[in-house]
Amino acid sequence: MPFSLDRLRRCTVAVDLGAARTRVHIKQSGLVVDEPSAVAVNTYSGALIAVGTAAERMAGRTPEHIRVVRPVTGGMVVDIEMAQRMLRALVGEKVRRAWRRRPSLRAAVCVPHNADPLARRAAVETLAGVGARRVELVDAPTAAGVGCGLPVEQPEATMILVCGATTTQVAVLSLGAIVAATTVPMGGDTIHHALVQHLRNHHELMLPRHGVRPLHQALSGAVAPGDGPTEVHGRDVVTGRARTILIDPADVRAAVQAPMTGLLDSIRGVLHRCPPDLVADLAGSGMTLTGGMALLPGLDQRLHENTGMAVHIADDPATCAVRGLAAMTDGAVRPFGSAAAHARSAGAAGTADTADTADVAGTADAEKQTAEAG
Ligand SMILES: Nc1ncnc2c1ncn2[C@@H]1O[C@H](COP(=O)(O)OP(=O)(O)OP(=O)(O)O)[C@@H](O)[C@H]1O
Ligand SMILES: [Mg+2]
Repeated sequence: MPFSLDRLRRCTVAVDLGAARTRVHIKQSGLVVDEPSAVAVNTYSGALIAVGTAAERMAGRTPEHIRVVRPVTGGMVVDIEMAQRMLRALVGEKVRRAWRRRPSLRAAVCVPHNADPLARRAAVETLAGVGARRVELVDAPTAAGVGCGLPVEQPEATMILVCGATTTQVAVLSLGAIVAATTVPMGGDTIHHALVQHLRNHHELMLPRHGVRPLHQALSGAVAPGDGPTEVHGRDVVTGRARTILIDPADVRAAVQAPMTGLLDSIRGVLHRCPPDLVADLAGSGMTLTGGMALLPGLDQRLHENTGMAVHIADDPATCAVRGLAAMTDGAVRPFGSAAAHARSAGAAGTADTADTADVAGTADAEKQTAEAG
C-alpha cells in the first residue's frame, strides 16, 4: 500500500475535509462531526459567528457584515486559517482539551488521489494547527473502498467512484494501490448549478437554494419518458415575482447531459488505461459508487446503461471515506502479503508513488510545525 498501515494504526483521529461536508471520526467515540464545511464570519471584526449547519443555514441570507466562507473546495483546503477555526469549533472544547493533553496526537486525513504537494501541505497544516503532531495522508478512493467493505488490498480489481460535491474521482484499485485513476470536475454541486442555469436560461426562473431537489426525481429512471412534468417554484428573472412552472423530465435530463458525458468519458478513459486482467475482474465485480452524489436518483442506472457494468451504491455512501480511514486506524485492514503488495505498489501508476512521497513529506511538515511551535 502506498501509505503505512502501521503508522495509520497509531492515529486516533480520522478526518475527511470535503467541499460540502466535514467528517471527523475519533477512536472509541465514533463519528463525532458530520456537518457542512461552512464558516460564518463577521467581516468587520473577523469574529466567528457560526460553523457547520448553522453557518450553512445563513448562506444566501446574510446582511453585508456577515460572510459565509467555504474553506475547502475541489478536495483541497483553500483557506487554512478558516478550516482550522471551523474544525476547532466543530469538534468542541471537550475534545480539543483531550487532544491538547495528548503530546503525540496523530491524525489520518484523506486527500484526492491526485492532490499536488500544495494541497497535501494544506491538509497537513490544517490538522497540525488543531493539535495533530503527525498527519498521515490517504488517497480518498482507497479510503472509500475500505469504508464500503471492498477487498481493496486483494490482488483483484476494484472500481470506485468517489462522487463528491465538486469533483468525482474514478479509480481502479488493486493490492491496496491505485492502478489507474482520474478526477472529473463534476459533483453534486455541478448538477445543482447545471439545473439552476438551465431554468434561468430556458425558463427565466431563479430557483431558491432548496428548489432543485424536486427536479432530482425527474433524473431517476423511475420516471419514464412522457411521464408527468415536475412543478418548480422560483422567482421570475424579469418581473422578480414568485412564479411556478411545470418542467418536463426529458428537459431536466437534457440539462445535466454535459456533466454526465464528462463523467462517462472519464470512466472509459480509466478502463482503457487498466491492464486487461483487471478489466476482466471488473466485468464480474462492476463499480461501486461512494460519496454524497452517489444518491443522485438515476445516476447508477445511467452509468450501467452507458458502460454495461454492474453499478452498486455503497451503504451510507457519503461517509465511506471517513469510515474507511477509521477502519485503517482501527487496524482492520491487513496487506495482502507485504512482498506482493510492495511489488504492485512500485509497478502501479505514478499516483501510488506520488501518494508515498507526499505522505512522508506531509508527516515531515507536521513534525516541522511541531518543532517550530515548540
Ligand atoms: N440524496 C442526494 N441526492 C443528490 N445529491 C446528493 C444527495 N445527498 C447528497 N448529495 C450531494 O452530494 C454532495 C455532498 O457529497 P459529499 O459529502 O460526499 O461531498 P464532499 O465530500 O464534501 O465533497 P468533495 O469530496 O467533492 O470534497 C453535495 O453536492 C450534495 O448536493
Ligand atoms: Mg468527499
